[in-house]
Amino acid sequence: MERIIVREVGLRDGIQMAHRFLETERKLEWVRRDFAAGVREVEATSFVPPKIVPQFADAAEVAAGALAIEGLLVSSLVPNLKGAERSLAAGITHVNYVLSASDAHSRANVRRSTDEAIEEFRRIAALKQTDLGKDLVLGVGIATTFGCTIQGEVDPRRVLEIAEILVGGGADEIIIADTVGYANPGQVKDILRPVLEIAAGRRVSCHFHDTRGLGLANLVAAVEVGARAFDASLAGLGGCPFAPGATGNINLEDTVFLLESLGFSTGIDIGALLELRRDVESWLGDERFSGAIARAGLPKTYRPAAA
Ligand code: COA
Ligand code: ZN
Repeated sequence: MERIIVREVGLRDGIQMAHRFLETERKLEWVRRDFAAGVREVEATSFVPPKIVPQFADAAEVAAGALAIEGLLVSSLVPNLKGAERSLAAGITHVNYVLSASDAHSRANVRRSTDEAIEEFRRIAALKQTDLGKDLVLGVGIATTFGCTIQGEVDPRRVLEIAEILVGGGADEIIIADTVGYANPGQVKDILRPVLEIAAGRRVSCHFHDTRGLGLANLVAAVEVGARAFDASLAGLGGCPFAPGATGNINLEDTVFLLESLGFSTGIDIGALLELRRDVESWLGDERFSGAIARAGLPKTYRPAAA
């Protein structure tokens, strides 16, 4: 049975645009119940300035609570060196730094050009040489890989050039991100084939948004060319506040349903996710929740791959 990793990013991407602040204790209940449902990787928080995204003012507390769960791989998202240092100081050594292939999105998101964001990547990777960063495992997301709502086209050659720089510069994981839901399955295959080669054994993850309904089709395309790690968000929450029109990540419950149905083991129990989702909906109130399994239920014929 082949395993596919599904990393829950609801506690980061999922709530970074939420209207309500979710209390720290509820965030931690979310993490604990993810773990109880079989989720083994969670991007638990974001080390951004609380002034910019107040939802993550409690990042250090969430980190401490999540890291207390034995067997859970906890990661963070960071937009810059300072975020990486804060993550390491809070004990989260799996750090996902994100830069944008689109210069326009890069400037809107982090007030830097893509080239400047690459320089910042080098400063973060250099932390591995320091005492604070000696255990750093550095993922790097390439946002707007398939296009950008501000700039439009993103040249795939630019994406591959960036992937080469990242791998050469010490990234441990490359995360191919369709921040705004522009990708189609053909494009996904065209980018992932060379990226998997460039990564040469390092982990390659996909981060898809379902903005235009192709999220799971893109996931299948990625699986077909060999990707084995995906980000997904409970209830399909998510969206980048600095990418106009962005909406949710691929839905976690539906993603597990699809992968298990295809015979890949995720280790995740959909029933437990659906129960958690009901509570998360009540905690968050008025958000855009998506998901076909939550609406229609599991088919009687569903058999998890592991069973
Ligand atoms: N965490 C906490 N504080 C931070 C920080 C971080 N990661 N990065 C910078 N700061 C603080 C600085 O110390 C400085 O504080 P001061 O005013 O008290 O001196 C202030 O924020 C401004 O720092 P600066 O380096 O000039 O940042 P900036 O104003 O150019 O903003 C980013 C750059 C990257 C911090 C900001 O654009 C950002 O947070 N973007 C991320 C957006 C995001 O979350 N997108 C969604 C996920 S992809
Ligand atoms: Zn995202």
